[in-house]
Amino acid sequence: MKKIYGIIGDPIAHSLSPVMHNAAFEKLGMDAVYLAFRVSPEEVGDAIRGAKSLGIAGLNVTIPLKEKTLSFVDAEEVAKKIGAVNTIDFGSGTPVGYNTDGIGSLMALKEAVGEIKEKKVLILGAGGAAKAISFYLDAEGARVTIANRTKGRAAQLASNLRNANSIGLDAELKEHVKASDILINATSVGMYPNEDATLVRANMMHPDLVVFDIVYNPMDTKLLREARRAGIKKIVDGVKMLVYQGAASFRIWTKREPPIEVMEKVVRDALSRDSSKSTD
Ligand code: ATR
Repeated sequence: MKKIYGIIGDPIAHSLSPVMHNAAFEKLGMDAVYLAFRVSPEEVGDAIRGAKSLGIAGLNVTIPLKEKTLSFVDAEEVAKKIGAVNTIDFGSGTPVGYNTDGIGSLMALKEAVGEIKEKKVLILGAGGAAKAISFYLDAEGARVTIANRTKGRAAQLASNLRNANSIGLDAELKEHVKASDILINATSVGMYPNEDATLVRANMMHPDLVVFDIVYNPMDTKLLREARRAGIKKIVDGVKMLVYQGAASFRIWTKREPPIEVMEKVVRDALSRDSSKSTD
């Protein structure tokens, strides 16, 4: 029987996950389909119970349901630590919750950088995305600095990591960028429709910096354009993270190796066609 997968969230109409996973199923000749379901925060428990009853094989979870989902699944350790679930597997009968956002970003970064250990990483943002990314980088032995508009949130996140400190986005940001090996934007700054916004400009960067933006709409964000202006060669865009988190979910559900190039190509093609895609 055809296996059914999907994504729950709100808004969900512009999600790129269906196109990405359906292309993977097709490439591997699997009898499976991936659909988008609009679910409000009040309905997330019913949706998960209903999905289990209907025999749905796996779900992704996106904004604004990632934290709430924790109460309705058996969450594995990493998802509990991050405090958010983006993947549910129904394979064992009970819904098991995972978080693949952090591992997705780590894989995207490692592809560009190689070894992460001892690298000085400056993360902009202290929300859910920053939390997932910083957890993995900290575990890999990176020296993490969290920079956030609301300093208290940055301090709170850093205090939950092994080897991290925190700053605000004011004057001290410039010297921290200069002293970093890797800069990651984990805020929504630069996302459609505010495509000309960036927290860091070319004159704050140095040519050996690696710059990674989790924003993928647009694919070429203002931050990445500034990085190129600063002569930076190692640039990682948000599509990589989207694809790698999706690939990690795919492995959990199917126990098969996903066709990553195919997934990346369909996402890039879809984004080039329509610049108003705004959720994962
Ligand atoms: P997510 O789960 O996607 O990370 P979030 O929890 O709402 O979303 O976090 C958004 C992050 O982007 C936060 O770090 C936020 O900073 P605050 O904690 O100060 O709110 C940051 N952010 C959003 N808009 C911003 C802006 N215009 N300037 C600076 N930081 C911004």
